[in-house]
Amino acid sequence: MPQKSLVKIVSLGVAAALGAALLVGSQAVAQQRVPAQQQMQKMLQMYKPELREKVMALSPETRQQLMQMLSIHTNRSNKATFRQVMQEVMSDYQAITVGIATDNSEMAADAARRLAGHRLPKGGLYPYFSLENINDSDMGILPAMNEAVEGTALKLAEAADRGDMAEAAGRLSEIMVACVGCHQKFRGQPGVSKMLLGAD
Ligand code: HEC
Repeated sequence: MPQKSLVKIVSLGVAAALGAALLVGSQAVAQQRVPAQQQMQKMLQMYKPELREKVMALSPETRQQLMQMLSIHTNRSNKATFRQVMQEVMSDYQAITVGIATDNSEMAADAARRLAGHRLPKGGLYPYFSLENINDSDMGILPAMNEAVEGTALKLAEAADRGDMAEAAGRLSEIMVACVGCHQKFRGQPGVSKMLLGAD
């Protein structure tokens, strides 16, 4: 949802102009942005030249959008792979399911917040996509995916806090739609063997 994030940026800009309390808010944003930029530089230095070239060829808008996404994910790992993070996310997703099914709103809310705050893998996201996907149109989808997974998980947590488990169940399904959408776009079938006849 690029428009949505644009609205967010614009409203942050307006908020920043609005006096003392909101000034604190704008400082927080500025503080977040600098480490994200540094982080991006650090990540670029970790990449092989062919990936670095692809990332550098992205438009400034796409890179800005992804950097903003990165700045929200402050839980950064220098060990975990994207696949490992996905498995953690899967596990949190299942914990949400148990929370909802057993009417344990606290369990559901905690697991949803954990899912939303998932770790960022070593090197960020770029190294785990195929090189052909590192282009403006494909990478431009990621902020919307982020909103659909993390944004919806936070809404799920709020619904669980209110004890509205029917809404939470609806949100759970919205999240899975986003998981599936991203997998269809960026992931092949997990664990395919190259040792089978007909494999390339
Ligand atoms: C940004 C796109 C994206 C989103 C959103 C996403 N995934 Fe993934 N997922 C991937 C990619 C790409 C892989 C393959 C990673 C690899 O193998 O390096 C993957 C792999 C996985 C795997 C591991 C499968 C294997 O290879 O063993 C699981 C489990 C998984 N995702 C679950 C989820 C769940 C659950 C959600 C939603 C809460 C989700 N994913 C959301 C892109 C995404």
